[in-house]
This record gives sequence, structure tokens and C-alpha cells, in this order.
Amino acid sequence: MYVGMDDLWIQVKMVTIKLRKRGRGMLNQSESMHGMWSSRLMFIFAAAGSAVGLGNIWRFPYLAGENGGGVFVLAYLGCIALIGIPILVAEILLGRAGRQSPINAMLVLAKASNASPAWSIIGWMGALAGFMILSFYGVIAGWAMAYVADMVSGNFVGIEADAAAKSFDDFTGDPLKVVGWQTAFMALTITIAARGVGRGLEMTVRYLMPALFLLLVVLVLYSALTTGHFVAGLTFLFQPNFDDFSSNSLIMAMGQAFFTLSLGMGAIMAYGAYMPKGSSIVGTAATIAVLDTGVALMSGMVIFPLVFANGLESSAGPGLMFITLPIAFGQMIGGQIFGTIFFVLVSFAAITSSISLLEPAVAWVVEKTRLGRARGAVLVGLIAWLLGLGSALSFNLGAEWTLTNGMNFFDVMDYVSNNILLPLGGILIAIFTGWLLSEDQLQAQLAEDQGALPVWRFLTRFIAPLGVLIVFLVTIF
Ligand code: PFF
Repeated sequence: MYVGMDDLWIQVKMVTIKLRKRGRGMLNQSESMHGMWSSRLMFIFAAAGSAVGLGNIWRFPYLAGENGGGVFVLAYLGCIALIGIPILVAEILLGRAGRQSPINAMLVLAKASNASPAWSIIGWMGALAGFMILSFYGVIAGWAMAYVADMVSGNFVGIEADAAAKSFDDFTGDPLKVVGWQTAFMALTITIAARGVGRGLEMTVRYLMPALFLLLVVLVLYSALTTGHFVAGLTFLFQPNFDDFSSNSLIMAMGQAFFTLSLGMGAIMAYGAYMPKGSSIVGTAATIAVLDTGVALMSGMVIFPLVFANGLESSAGPGLMFITLPIAFGQMIGGQIFGTIFFVLVSFAAITSSISLLEPAVAWVVEKTRLGRARGAVLVGLIAWLLGLGSALSFNLGAEWTLTNGMNFFDVMDYVSNNILLPLGGILIAIFTGWLLSEDQLQAQLAEDQGALPVWRFLTRFIAPLGVLIVFLVTIF
């Protein structure tokens, strides 16, 4: 039978409209209108892909370096276990129960639980935090891609400390270069998001996640076998030194726990909406947290031995990865190859995270407008890119655009999203899931987790919200 293009188009439209109607206001559907992960493993890859990113390889090591090593790591692990994992479970659960973008999922779940529709603020704040994070994330990820090119071409072979610092300053001081690489990275992110859940997101994590773990193991072995300072690196990471730790370190550790697990902004909730029914949420969340923490610690095990072996400073701050590390690779045998591997690893990790930063807003646009996935992704991505220009220019043209405390646009985006919006979103998610979500919903989602339910409930009701609150108060006073 011949079907004309017009007929086909009308049919597609009708299905879309039906799906859209279904998407609004219905609960406990077995599928999301956006598509589904093909298996539990693919959900784990996707969520771990979101979690493992610049936060693990760039941010965690430099924060640990600045905040006394072991004692920071201890605080961070405490936050992951007591606050992070319970909220991770809550986000997956809300997503899978709502099967829509976080904003709409919160609307229907609040309604079904007789709670105020104002709880959709969780979704709105999350989308805002997503844009803010992506604004600086895209810039740093762009640097990492640029460093792949630099490493391959041998620009860092034998480089001295001053030259490495100058090379970094020259690069970040050039608005065209920084914006160019940020644009390239964002274009990649948008392209993947535009292809949808199955052909875009899942296809990406299916290949990049195994590759990422493999590269990381190779680098740990390299660090262990060639630096002669592996034990010094381990000691630094795991031996607490309380002198360098302050209340500010505590809030940094908590902010980092949220950031690294992608919590508090709906990314995991959005991904949870595509998770198949019938598998344990607690087990899945624990797996994701272990993978994420493992990658952060392994990154430390790659970086610090290299830093110490070359007599460099561990407390270099954000420049640790972009100045200190290239010097170290530049002095090491095989540094050109392994340095390239390192920055490829960072770029892979960044892309599997940035697609999750975009997803909550893209899903919402698909549900609320007639734009469709591809145009929705482009629209949302362009907004994030535009905001990102502010972060990109913070290192050059806009270096003087600072607040009275000296923070530039980039610093403000980083600080407000990680240390305020994510923990605040986390408190609200914990309160809603722990106290307000209807028991039916909860039982339906945690059917496979009856054993863990009481512990999870206790942590989510009391420990997570109070923990975040206390850290907030300690910081303010
Ligand atoms: N978890 C990512 C990282 O550690 O790099 C960053 C991130 C991704 C934060 C997605 C928040 C998010 F929703």
C-alpha cells in the first residue's frame, strides 16, 4: 500500500499529540514518552556517566589538595554515604514514579500525594542549576579537549613550570580560543541530546563508559609503576591532616558530594524516568555511588603521585589539572602518550555528564511545546551556551567583571550552583520523598528494596536534610 508523505506526517502528529496528552498528568506508566534505557545496566552506565565527570577528575583532586587531603576525603565520603546515597535513591525513585521531566514529574507526584503543586519548584530550581553548571562545565570541558590536541602535538614535552603556567594563561586569556572550544563541546552535547534517549544518550554511554574505565585503569597502573611516589599519593589521599581543614572545607566537601553524584538538580530524576521497572533502586544507586567514588579516588591516585614525583604543589587549585599535571607528564617517560590518554579520558567523562545537565530542560520543552526533540535540544543548548559565554570570558575580556569579594562570573556560577542550589534542591527532594510522597508510590517503587527501606527512610527523613542544614548554618556563622 502506498502511504503518501502527508498521511505519514498526519499519523506522526497524531501519535505525538496522544503521547503528549498521556505524558501530562498520568502516573505509573510503564514507559516514558521520551524513550527508555534498554536495560538496567544501560541505566547504570547513563547515571554513572552523569556522575563521573570533571567533578571527579578535575574538581575532586584539587579540592582534596587545597583542603588537607585525607581529612577532606573523609568528610566527602561521609557526605556521600549519609546524604548522597539516600538522595540518589530518592531522585531515581521520583523519576521512575513520574516518568516525565523533573518539573512535570514533581507536579503529578505532588498532586497524587495531596501536596502543593509548588513542589515543582524542585524541577525549576534544578533546570536553573543545570544551566548555571553547564555554563562553566562547557568551558572547562573545552579546555580539556584543547589539551588533547596540545598533548598529541607534544607541546608539553619537557616543559618547565613557568612555561606551563604561561601556556595556560595565554590560552585562557584568548577569548577566541576559549569560546571556540566551549562552542565545540556544546555543539557535541547538543548533537547527542538532539538524537534522543536511545540513539543519542544511550549510544554515547554504551561505548564511552567502558572506554573511560579502561583508560583510568591504564593510568593508575602507569602512575603506580613509573612515578615511584604512589605510596606518597595514597598517604596524602587517605591520611587525615586536620590543620588544613576548616568549616569552609566541610561545605566544599558537601557541595562536592552533591556535584559529583549529579544530585539536587533533577538530572538523575530525568534519567530515572527512563529506567525500566522491576529492578532494585537501592542496589542500583549503591552501584552508581561506588563507581563514582572509585573514579574520584583513582583520579587522585593518578594525579598526586605524578605531582609529588616531580616536586610540584598539590594545592594548586583549579590549575592542578591544567598547569601542574602537564608539567608532570612533560617530565615523565611516555608522558606524551599517557598525557593524551588522560585528557581524552577527561573529555569523555565531561560529555557523558553534560548531556545529563541538559536533559531535564530538554525533556520539559519536548513535553510542553511542539518543537520536538531536536529543535528542543538546540534551543536549550543555545541558552546554556550563551550563559557559558559569561564563564568563558571570565578568564580574559571579563576578568574585571567581579563582585566585591573578587568573584568573577565563572566563580559565581560555580559557587551558587554547587554550594547553594544543589544542596537546597537536595533538602527539598529529601523532605518531599521522605515525608510527603504517598505510601503507595513509595512502596510501588521500592518493592524490591524492602530490606533497605527502614534505613533509607531514616536517612532521608532526618539525616540528609539536617546534615545539609547544619553544614549551611556552620558556614553562615
Ligand atoms: N557529576 C558531574 C561531575 O562530577 O562532573 C557534574 C554534574 C552533572 C553535576 C550533572 C550535576 C548534574 F546534574
